[in-house]
Amino acid sequence: MKIAVAGTGYVGLVTGVCLASKGYRVTCVDVDEEKVKIMQEGVSPIYEPGLSELMMESMENLTFTTDYAEAYKDAEVIFVGVGTPEKSDGSANLTYVYQVAKQIAQSADRDCVVVIKSTVPIGTNDKLESYIHDKQKNKDIKIYIASNPEFLAQGTAVRDTLHASRIVIGTEEEYPKQVLLKVYEKFEAPKLTVGRRSAEMVKYASNDFLALKISYVNEIANLCETVGADVEEVTKGMGLDPRIGNRFLNAGIGYGGSCFPKDTKALSWLARFNDKEIRTVRAAIEVNESQKFKLVKKAKKYYDDFLFLNIAILGCTFKPGTDDLREAPSLVNVPLLLEDGAHLRIWDPVGMENFRKRIGEKNICYCNTIEEALEDADLCLIFTEWDEVKKLDVRKYKELMKRPIVLDGRNCYPLERFENTGITYGSVGRRTVNDIN
Ligand SMILES: NC(=O)c1ccc[n+]([C@@H]2O[C@H](COP(=O)([O-])OP(=O)(O)OC[C@H]3O[C@@H](n4cnc5c(N)ncnc54)[C@H](O)[C@@H]3O)[C@@H](O)[C@H]2O)c1
Repeated sequence: MKIAVAGTGYVGLVTGVCLASKGYRVTCVDVDEEKVKIMQEGVSPIYEPGLSELMMESMENLTFTTDYAEAYKDAEVIFVGVGTPEKSDGSANLTYVYQVAKQIAQSADRDCVVVIKSTVPIGTNDKLESYIHDKQKNKDIKIYIASNPEFLAQGTAVRDTLHASRIVIGTEEEYPKQVLLKVYEKFEAPKLTVGRRSAEMVKYASNDFLALKISYVNEIANLCETVGADVEEVTKGMGLDPRIGNRFLNAGIGYGGSCFPKDTKALSWLARFNDKEIRTVRAAIEVNESQKFKLVKKAKKYYDDFLFLNIAILGCTFKPGTDDLREAPSLVNVPLLLEDGAHLRIWDPVGMENFRKRIGEKNICYCNTIEEALEDADLCLIFTEWDEVKKLDVRKYKELMKRPIVLDGRNCYPLERFENTGITYGSVGRRTVNDIN
């Protein structure tokens, strides 16, 4: 079976590589020439655990190209994994998906199934079908459209694809359904075949539910701080209830990334567009927006302003295991601190280059080690729960910092570790250890 994949981002490249690892011949298409050149040499342009290794192992089944016409011409299945970023009104920008649809319509020369993996608003697959049929150059062939939403999480994308929690296949006809069941035959995962609109909705409903869960726990955490409860103890108690489950109950400074922020806004927009209101999702968005600034607000207790302070920033990606900065809390907090005159010492194991490109160098020292970042710092803010941070001997905060005040936005440590250390340790939803009154 000849497979093409449009877009080689976190979804497209991981999909292509995982399919190739199962023995399919896969041609991955991207418009970004630089990226394609890198991939042709067997190098992954994104950081994702296990991806480079699997890509190397599967290179004989992989082709990377910018030549979409050649790739789509005789492909039997074309996966579409291009971006659907947020527009200024919160709705999903479908420009890239339609670009690919047009390219397929102009190039396809045999019956094929176009599989939409990109997250798209409910009804988009139907519209794409009409669009492709209108624009189709070869009118003798049939181009089917199937929805196959992606549930992988960055940081565990390869594992999530090879051992998916579920594979949702949304089709309106038997042929594309059978083709996709065949493609996924070698993937051990529950397979759910539904209508296309339901498949599109499964994706939004799932992501928005997880965002809701996070915002709910964060609000509970904020209240815990006020009433003297400990959110870790509370969520442990909640998580033992199988109806609640113990995952996605970590309190922190809010979700980021390329999916939750935009998918909550897109569903909210879609509801409003249809004269409905999803109030729970709107509340989750609002809570997340203010949660992002929690550490800086806490820091104001210790410093009236940040002028000339040395502030160590540990982690700048939106979560560990990825180099992705999209919607990361660090991106809104760092400019605020710089505006207030702070000097920043930033450490992140994989995200610093992207961060440097986005935020620049002025008043920022990019550090190769955590220790270097902590040197002479008046304050340390933890934005990402990297393993290196969790494993750090906390006495280092005292040894290296000028004033050991650590504010942890990801609850990286048990509180006991800071008892009797002389380090002021504040986190989310828990008491502050060695607080200064
Ligand atoms: N990143 C995630 O964790 C994740 C998880 C589930 C679903 N999704 C959804 O999957 C989609 C893709 O997300 P992503 O994070 O992989 O995006 P990304 O931005 O990392 O990658 C998109 C890629 O598509 C390429 N592209 C743009 N136009 C193209 C065209 N006409 N032909 C070929 N390539 C083209 C871009 O150059 C880029 O490399 C989005 O809809 C997203 O919501 C993402």
